[in-house]
Amino acid sequence: MKSLVVYYSLTGKTKLVAQVIAEALNATLVEIQETKPRRLGPLVYVVGSFAALMNKGSKINPVNVNLKEYDRIFIGSPTWASRPAPAVNSFIYQTNFEGRSVIPFFTMGGEDATKAVANITAKIEKSGGKVAGSFAIASYKASDEEIIARAKEAIKKYSS
Ligand SMILES: Cc1cc2nc3c(=O)[nH]c(=O)nc-3n(C[C@H](O)[C@H](O)[C@H](O)COP(=O)(O)O)c2cc1C
Repeated sequence: MKSLVVYYSLTGKTKLVAQVIAEALNATLVEIQETKPRRLGPLVYVVGSFAALMNKGSKINPVNVNLKEYDRIFIGSPTWASRPAPAVNSFIYQTNFEGRSVIPFFTMGGEDATKAVANITAKIEKSGGKVAGSFAIASYKASDEEIIARAKEAIKKYSS
């Protein structure tokens, strides 16, 4: 089964999880990048959360990938205001998921990504995709090793 992992990551946690998935499933790994990278600081929370809350997109570099080449597509995002990050919204808004099997995943500072999963599921389905699973990894105060271990555990059921 050919898998694609597309992700956005501001502070590296989602990137780490995406890398674990790509390695475990021998998947193609593609990063979504904003044309103007965000500067870390207190403002990033306010500005980012507001945009996420409003389901806004942000300007991203072109993501050159043909979804039809893959049997399933993992889409990774940090949880922002209980929603996907704007860069991930942009990728979804500009992509046709007709007939595609999609597995969204989140990293989160909290413990619950139910709302974020419901939100991204609605967006993927609106674009014709079928959500075939999801998972979320808690990253708060977690070492890279802990995140990697959690990601390996979460991905087990998708290994075949
Ligand atoms: C703008 C912003 C909003 C956030 N909102 C939430 C939230 O609503 N719930 C949550 O659990 N974590 C929230 N977080 C924490 C991130 O989801 C968490 O640190 C994530 O693992 C970061 O992933 P990254 O390193 O790939 O960017 C927020 C972080 C930022 C920067």
